[in-house]
Amino acid sequence: MITVFKNISECLTLEGAFKKEGRKIQEEDLSIIQNASIVVNNGRIEWIGESKKLPKQYRGKKEISLKGLSVLPGFVECHTHSIFSGNRSQEFEMKFQGKTYAEIAQAGGGILSTVRATRKASEKELMGSFLGSVSNFLKQGVTTLEVKSGYGLDLKNELKILKVARKCKSLRVITTYLGPHAKAPESTHIDQYFESILEDLDAVKKSKLADRVDIFIEKNYFSSEQAKRYFKKAQSLGFKVVSHTNQLNPSDGVFVSTDCGAVSCDHLNYLEEKDIQRLSVSHVTCVFIPTADFYLKIPYPPARKLIDSGARVALSTDFNPGSSPTQDLNFVGLVARREMKMNLAEVISAWTVGASYALSLEKEVGSLTVGKSADFVVLSGGWRDLFYRVGISQIQQVYYKGRKTLK
Ligand code: NIG
Ligand code: FE
Repeated sequence: MITVFKNISECLTLEGAFKKEGRKIQEEDLSIIQNASIVVNNGRIEWIGESKKLPKQYRGKKEISLKGLSVLPGFVECHTHSIFSGNRSQEFEMKFQGKTYAEIAQAGGGILSTVRATRKASEKELMGSFLGSVSNFLKQGVTTLEVKSGYGLDLKNELKILKVARKCKSLRVITTYLGPHAKAPESTHIDQYFESILEDLDAVKKSKLADRVDIFIEKNYFSSEQAKRYFKKAQSLGFKVVSHTNQLNPSDGVFVSTDCGAVSCDHLNYLEEKDIQRLSVSHVTCVFIPTADFYLKIPYPPARKLIDSGARVALSTDFNPGSSPTQDLNFVGLVARREMKMNLAEVISAWTVGASYALSLEKEVGSLTVGKSADFVVLSGGWRDLFYRVGISQIQQVYYKGRKTLK
């Protein structure tokens, strides 16, 4: 089934950013085509270019006019904890009273309070709230969404979360097992819990519910030595690996993750010069989460230094009920521009090409190039208004695999 999308005033294909593998992006790498058409065949881009160059064979096919609006690739949200139960708004107030993330966790709050609520919730209840979150993401132009477990902290509840994630079909979902997110409440010591996770990995693999695995490398959570063992075992089972690292303290998490061939290193707030050098020459994608930094009031990552040294970067909301209770991509992009000095082209590339690498989906999504999935958003105004007017959505229509999911 062929559809020709026409009357696109500006089409940001991101082809240049894709060719540069998401590194050192400039405005010209947005690769904008004026007066464009896109030919979609069975959900894939078969042809894209200036309308006046549309090959004859596509004349007379089904046409959809995008009425002079602008188009860019669907956004790729590469790091979320979207499936959870409960509410932690009171913690937000505690933060203003000067309590730190660690102090809130020690007082029984933090990740473990979400774990208690999530364990109690049925699959159906989790699905209900997850679908609400998915709808919020779709309205923001997200067509690929990563979802982590990590609020179950035992095999049964971790699999329950991953199962809910797998059931969603309204956009592309990538699932990530995050058993090593925090110590399970019933474990006497984190090392004991960690050993049980290593054993659980076999069952996670067997369930086919997880596409990849993640670990929180941090003081009082999991050590980089443990991460090394976790990565090794996960990779022997065929999983790709990623890490939450250097978020609250400096550590050798970046070195261990890159040495082990992690696909992405996420957060990266506390970096030393040697970490920046390492990240900029490695294949890893650096995932920045400025809204978590904003909510936690911690230093932003050294984005400028990383980008200028050649690192590939992505942006994410980290949507979760604790450190980043927002799904607002516009807000993330605005903070990246305002506080991390990323320019608009870098932000657009980070949400598309960069994030597609973070999910090992660079051949499938992230740019509007021939052969890729026809995932794109139609803007109500000019693309320069993106990541600028917070609270006002610029997204008018969303197409996933060539089909309209939102108008
Ligand atoms: O990505 N850093 C660890 N995990 C989450 C926070 C989860 C929570 O506070 O519930 C994060 O920030
Ligand atoms: Fe996270």
